[in-house]
Amino acid sequence: MNKNIKLVTPIIIAIGLTVPFITLAKEIVIKFSHVTTKTTPKGKGAMLLKKMVDERLNGKVRIEVYPSSQLYGDKAVLKALLLNDVQLAAPSLSKFSKYTKKWALFDLPFLFKNAQALNCFTDSEKGQELLNAIDRKGLKGLGYWLNGMKQISANHPLITPKDAQGLKFRIMSSDVLKAQFEAIGANPQKMSFSEVYNALATGVIDGQENTWSNILSKKFFEVQKDITVSSHGVLGYALITNKRFWNTLPDDIRLELEKIIKEVTAKVTQFALDVAIKDMQTIADSGKTNIHILSPEQKQQWVVAMKPVWAKFENQVGKDNIVVVQQCNAKN
Ligand code: LMR
Repeated sequence: MNKNIKLVTPIIIAIGLTVPFITLAKEIVIKFSHVTTKTTPKGKGAMLLKKMVDERLNGKVRIEVYPSSQLYGDKAVLKALLLNDVQLAAPSLSKFSKYTKKWALFDLPFLFKNAQALNCFTDSEKGQELLNAIDRKGLKGLGYWLNGMKQISANHPLITPKDAQGLKFRIMSSDVLKAQFEAIGANPQKMSFSEVYNALATGVIDGQENTWSNILSKKFFEVQKDITVSSHGVLGYALITNKRFWNTLPDDIRLELEKIIKEVTAKVTQFALDVAIKDMQTIADSGKTNIHILSPEQKQQWVVAMKPVWAKFENQVGKDNIVVVQQCNAKN
C-alpha cells in the first residue's frame, strides 16, 4: 500500500474532528423571562437589550425574550434562574424577601418623593452596594430598572385612608406592603401579577396598587371605577442573572454584555419617566375610570396613616440607606 495514504488518513480524521470546535463556537442563548407586556418600561428594556446584543454580539450571543408571564411568573422565575433554566429576569424589588430583607427599603410608603429620587438612590454608592445583597444566594444583580410611582385604585373613590378600610387589596409578596395596607385598616392579599385582572373583574379583590404603565397595559382601569393619584410607593426592578452562569461566560462577552446593560438601563429610566404621564393621560382619556387628585391635606392623611410602618422595618433596611434616599429627595 502507498505509505502516504496511511499517513494522510489520520491527519484528515484529526482535522475533521477539531475544525467544528474551532470554527463553530456555539452561540450562547440567554433566556429573559418577565411578567409585563412589551409596551411597559421593562418590556421595552428587554427588547432593546435583545436588539443591542443582536447588533454587537451577533453570532456569539442571542437573547430570547419571554414577556407577559409566558414562561414563568416572578416566584417561579427566581427558582428557574437558580436552576439555569433561564438566565435573565427582572422581578420587582418587592419580591425578593426570601433572598434579602434589605430590599424591603423600596416598599416603605412615602419614602421616595418621586421616580427621580428613586433613580438618584439606585445610582448612588449606597444603592449600588445594596444591589449586591442577593449575591450570596447564587443570584447576581446586574442593575436596577425603573418603573415609577404606584397609584391606588378601587371601585369607589379613595380620598382619605378611611375610604380603604375593610377593602381587599392585591399586593406583591412583601411584608412591608402587607403592613402598609393593615395600617389603613384594609385587607392585603398577596397575589401574582397575572392573576390581578381576573381577581378585580370577579370581585375576589376590591382594589390594587400599581404604576400607570401596569394599570394601562393590564387593563386594570377597565375594572376599577376610581384611581387615586397617591404616589405612595415606588416600583423598581432588579435585573438579575445566575451568578455561576455569569461568571463562566468568556471575559470579553461578559464585559460587552455589562456595557450593553448599562446603556439599556439608562434608556429604561428614560422610558419610565416618559410613559408615566402619557399612560395616565391615556387612562384618563378612556373615560372608563375616574382619576382623583388629592389636596395636600388629604395626601397628608395617607402619609400619617402609612408612615408608622417604617418603625418596624428601619433596622432591617438600614437607617443609613434611608438617609441617602432623603438626600435624594432633597435634590429632586
Ligand atoms: C407586580 O406584580 O405588580 C409587578 O411586579 C409587575 C411588574 O413586574 O411590573
